[in-house]
This record gives sequence, structure tokens and C-alpha cells, in this order.
Amino acid sequence: MEVVQVLHMNKGAGETSYAKNSKVQSKIISITKTVTEEAIIELLCKNLPESMGIADLGCSSGPNTLTVISEIIDIIYSKCSNLGCPTPELRICLNDLYSNDFNDVFGSLPAFYNKLKEEKGTDFGQCFITGVPGSFYGRLFPRKSMHFVHSSSSLHWLSQVPSGLDSKASTGINKGRIYISKTSPQSVLDSYMLQFQKDFSLFLKSRSNEIVPGGCMVLSFTGRKSMDPTSIESCHQWELLAQALMNMVSEGLVPEEKVDTFNAPYYGPCAEELELEVQKEGSFIMDRLEAFEIDWDGGVDMPNTINGTLSSGQRVAKTIRAVIESMLESHFGRDIMDDLFQRHADLVDKHLAKTRTKYTNLVIHLVRKG
Ligand SMILES: C[S@@+](CC[C@H](N)C(=O)[O-])C[C@H]1O[C@@H](n2cnc3c(N)ncnc32)[C@H](O)[C@@H]1O
Repeated sequence: MEVVQVLHMNKGAGETSYAKNSKVQSKIISITKTVTEEAIIELLCKNLPESMGIADLGCSSGPNTLTVISEIIDIIYSKCSNLGCPTPELRICLNDLYSNDFNDVFGSLPAFYNKLKEEKGTDFGQCFITGVPGSFYGRLFPRKSMHFVHSSSSLHWLSQVPSGLDSKASTGINKGRIYISKTSPQSVLDSYMLQFQKDFSLFLKSRSNEIVPGGCMVLSFTGRKSMDPTSIESCHQWELLAQALMNMVSEGLVPEEKVDTFNAPYYGPCAEELELEVQKEGSFIMDRLEAFEIDWDGGVDMPNTINGTLSSGQRVAKTIRAVIESMLESHFGRDIMDDLFQRHADLVDKHLAKTRTKYTNLVIHLVRKG
């Protein structure tokens, strides 16, 4: 399964849309803001370019897309004001896969530009925002055109289901599971790790061509603190979804073979794995690596207009549904989605009543060597 063909966040502004269910990711953006701020300030102190290339990779659509670039613009504007220098011309590239709702993003640009003019006045340098569809596991921008690259909640998606797990021939290797789990054989763990290594090194190689010497990246994504890829922080969320699917198998609502042939194109790495890939690729210095935890529901309230407040499980299920429904739908069909995520929500509620498991997020600051 090629991610490029099946992954897109739920479009529009309806109940199951990413726009309405991306508060966890929004919280992650705000937690990592200091790292972004310090990285940009360090960059501008070294060299203030006349024209600055900026990219947000995996920008999606919805409120978070413009929040990120608005924060980046604010940081640059305020630093330049402090230095008494004119703001550089900003070339801001918003990247995501081809099926992302770029129309929605472009539709919100006029209001964004107006707000920028109102808040920053006419002495604010020019800002050119463009959409760049394509996979970040490959070249996206011209050579040495980027100064600052950002990505949030996106790099845990692999370019594909690990080779060896993506065909009918592999049915049964990860039986009844949809990601790495405690009971997965070692070959499954190895396939996932190899795919991550291949993808992340290609990501670094591609960016190393595009980022100017001294330029940098701030990347945050789901990972793990433990070196063990079967640790609960890393795979329990997928286990609960697999359980919901297997419950449906036992009731004859989903063919078992469908579950056995689905493996998520996802990998949450640990710090050591990241450090190793950065070292092996050789173009970047890892200036900073931090891990932080976040509640599965982000610890945020999501009002339900029909029934009042939602349970934690329902909030978690809605957040996950907005992200992975397109992928599940293409494999299992659309009809089971409401039932599947209701069962998933119930299982999450039961789990959270016993253990408050959290996601681990990693944020890294990488500087392009000179
Ligand atoms: C959960 S959303 C995060 C969106 C946004 N950055 C945020 O924080 O709200 C993950 C995004 O990564 C995108 N994505 C996944 N794999 C990608 C790839 N290989 N190239 C570009 N974008 C990708 C998805 O399409 C999706 O829009």
C-alpha cells in the first residue's frame, strides 16, 4: 500500500473532518513552538537572508495549517523588528500529498493575507505562499532554496507498508494485528524498522539538497521513549483498533483475511534510531532532541453539539478517525466505519479507565552542515 494513494485527512468541516478534530495536533504545535522559535532566531542571528525559503511539510488543511505559518511569520517579524532590520521576503511552501485539500488552504489565503497586512503594516516584506503537492520522501524544492523547514505530526507516516508485509503473500505473518504488537514475530519488527530507516534517510537526503548550509529543520512526530518498539506507549493505540476490528470479525461483519492483510504504514521511532539515521546520512547536526508526552485526547474538550460532552474514548476515536479513515476505508470499505470507531471508542474508554497511557512525541532541531 502506497501512502501517497490512500492517505488524506478527512476533508471539509463536518463532524468527522480533520479541521474539527485536530486539537491534539494543535496542542503539539503549541508545545513545540519554543523549539521552532529558538531555531529561527538562531538562524536569523547567523545570517539574515534577503529572501527566505520556508516550508511546512505535511501541512494538511484546516486551522493548524495557517497557525504554523502564522507563528513562523510572527517569530521572523518580531526578531527583525528587534534587530531593526527589514523583514526578508518570505517564500512559504505548504507541502502535502496530492490528495490533500489544497483548495481549502488556498481559499483561506485572502483572509490570511489581509490579517497579515492589518497586523504587520505595509513595512512587512512580501510573503509568497505556494502549495507544493508531493511526498516528502523525495525531492520537493530546488537545490539550496530552503532556510527553514518545519513538520509536525506527519513524519511518523511511512512512504508505504513495509515491504514484506504489503502483499497477500504475507497474510498471516502479523495475524490479527495491524501494527507492531507484543505478539508480532521478530520479522514484523524488522520489516517496520527497515522501512523507517529507508524512508527517514531518503527524507534527510532530499532535504540536504534543498536546505542552504546553516539552514535548519524542526520536526516533531509521534515516537517512543523506550527502545522497545512493542512498548505500550508505542503500539497500544493500534492494538485497540485491531481489537475493534477482530470483534467485528467474530461477529461476521469483517472478513478475517481483511485484517490479516492490513498493516499500518506508520512507525514511531525512538531517539537512538533517529540519531543513528542522522549520523549515517551525514548532512545534518542534531542540535536538539526532546521527548514529551501528550494525552491521547490531548487533554482538550471537544464539545458534542448533540449529546453534550464526549467521553475520552469518543474524543480519541474521533481524532484518530479524522486521520486514518481514508486509509481504512480503501481497505475495509466505507460501510463499517461508524461501527468500527464506536467500538474503538468503547475500548479506549475501558483502557483509559485502567491506565492513562499517553503518546510520546519527539521534536528534533537539525542544522544543515556548511
Ligand atoms: C496528522 S496530519 C498533520 C497536519 C498538520 N501538520 C498538523 O499538525 O495539524 C499529517 C499530514 O501528513 C501528510 N503526509 C503523510 N505522509 C506524507 C508524505 N510522504 N509527504 C507529504 N505529506 C505527508 C498527510 O497527508 C497529512 O496531511
